[in-house]
Order: sequence, then structure tokens, then C-alpha cells
Amino acid sequence: MKVRVWDLPLRLFHWALAACVTVSIVTGLSGGNAMQYHFWSGYTLIALLVFRLVWGVIGSQHARFRNFVRGPRAVLRYVRGDDPRPEHLRVGHNPLGSLSVIALLAVVTLQVVSGLFANDEIFNQGPLAIYVSNRTSAIFTFYHTTIGQPLIYALVGLHIAAIAYYALVKRQNLVRPMLTGDIDTVAGVTPARDTWGLRGLALLIVAAGGALAWWISTLGSVGGY
Ligand code: HEM
Repeated sequence: MKVRVWDLPLRLFHWALAACVTVSIVTGLSGGNAMQYHFWSGYTLIALLVFRLVWGVIGSQHARFRNFVRGPRAVLRYVRGDDPRPEHLRVGHNPLGSLSVIALLAVVTLQVVSGLFANDEIFNQGPLAIYVSNRTSAIFTFYHTTIGQPLIYALVGLHIAAIAYYALVKRQNLVRPMLTGDIDTVAGVTPARDTWGLRGLALLIVAAGGALAWWISTLGSVGGY
């Protein structure tokens, strides 16, 4: 039977996140005039991350952090193939996948925050760089370009490799549920709430995140936008 597992706001968040991270990588590598779009996709990422943080507390069942963040013991048990949960409770992120979800959200957040304080000493400067010393800005820039960037490549690569592994080896299509919201599962699984009321609330949260991003953008970027 079909059961809703990912609510619409979470799915839209996911694909918007993937799109913005891609745009940020391409524009960051291109430099020059493309930096305008690098800044804009960074500001969009602020709105998305604010949404995901709040959704992790008040979103539907499988979007909530407390329902998928697991300790090392649960992860080890899962890896050994010894998952004590009955089948109808094995929905949402699995204990290992949840590690990659948290890591992805954390590195993208660090990348955005470090970008706000970074500067390239020529044309571009994040909007908050003027509020810290040159040395501090240089540390943020070092993180943004030398640590965060390869970390994001590695984690996104791992993420996509894991999804390919599930598709090819375990014959489990994880992408379709991230598009349609539904999985085929056993009876007894509680569906995720995905009402228009909740979707409206999600829109308000994204709007609040967008307002925060706009306000940050007005604080003083140079070269940037
Ligand atoms: C072709 C590209 C991508 C595909 C096919 C893809 C697919 C998926 C799928 C199927 C899931 C659900 C996994 C599960 O069942 O537990 C997922 C979750 C997730 N993906 Fe991707 N993904 C892609 C790109 C990205 C990128 C670029 C990022 C960002 C850096 C990203 C970040 C995430 C996050 C944070 C989650 C957890 C969703 C949440 O609970 O917030 N993905 N992805």
C-alpha cells in the first residue's frame, strides 16, 4: 500500500537545496560576473536552511530531527543488519542515512555562514565581513574555499553514491519517494501529515527566512549583491 512519507515542503526544500548548491558551485568556480548569482544563491540557501531547521522541529513525522537522529549504537546495529525496529516502523531516513543528512545540512550551513564573512581581497566581500577583523575574515575565507568546498563535494558525492547503491544493489528506489512523497510499504505505517495548512505554514517560514537573508544582504557586501 502507498503511504505518504515526505511532505511536499520537505520535497521542495530538497530539490531547491540541490539546485542552489549546484548553482553556488558553478558560479563560485566561474567567478567574475557570475559572483552576483553566487551571492543570490547563498541568500536563497539561508531561507532554505532556516526552513529546514524549523521543519526539523515542527514538520511532519519523518522530517523531525528527533525521529531520525540516532546514536552510534543504532547506526552500528543497522550496519550489522540487526535493526530491532518492526518493519512498519522502518520508514523515513534509516540510521546510517540520517548521519549523511545531518552532515550535509551542517556543511552547507557552515559554507553559507563562512561565505557571509569571507572576502577575496579584490572584488567580492560577504555582507558581514566588515564586522570582523581582516584576520578573522581571512580564516572564514580559508574555511569557505579550502575546507568547506571539498567537504561539500565529498558529502554530495557520497550522498549520490549511496542513492545509486540502494538503486543498483539493494534494488530500492529512494528517488521516487523524494519526488512523489509516497512509498510502497506494509500496513500499519503512520502517514506523514501533508495538509495544505502545513504547506501554508511552510511558506510563511520560508518567507521569514527570506526576509532574514534580505536583511543580512543589506548589511554591507562589497562587489557582492
Ligand atoms: C542528483 C542529485 C540528488 C539526488 C538524486 C538526491 C536524492 C535524495 C534522496 C532520494 C533522499 C532521501 C534519502 C532517504 O530516503 O533517506 C535525499 C535526501 C537528502 N538530500 Fe539529496 N539528492 C541529490 C542531491 C542533493 C544535494 C546536492 C544536496 C545538498 C547538499 C542534498 C541534500 C539532501 C538532504 C539534506 C537530504 C535529507 C532531506 C531532509 O530530511 O532534509 N541532496 N536526497
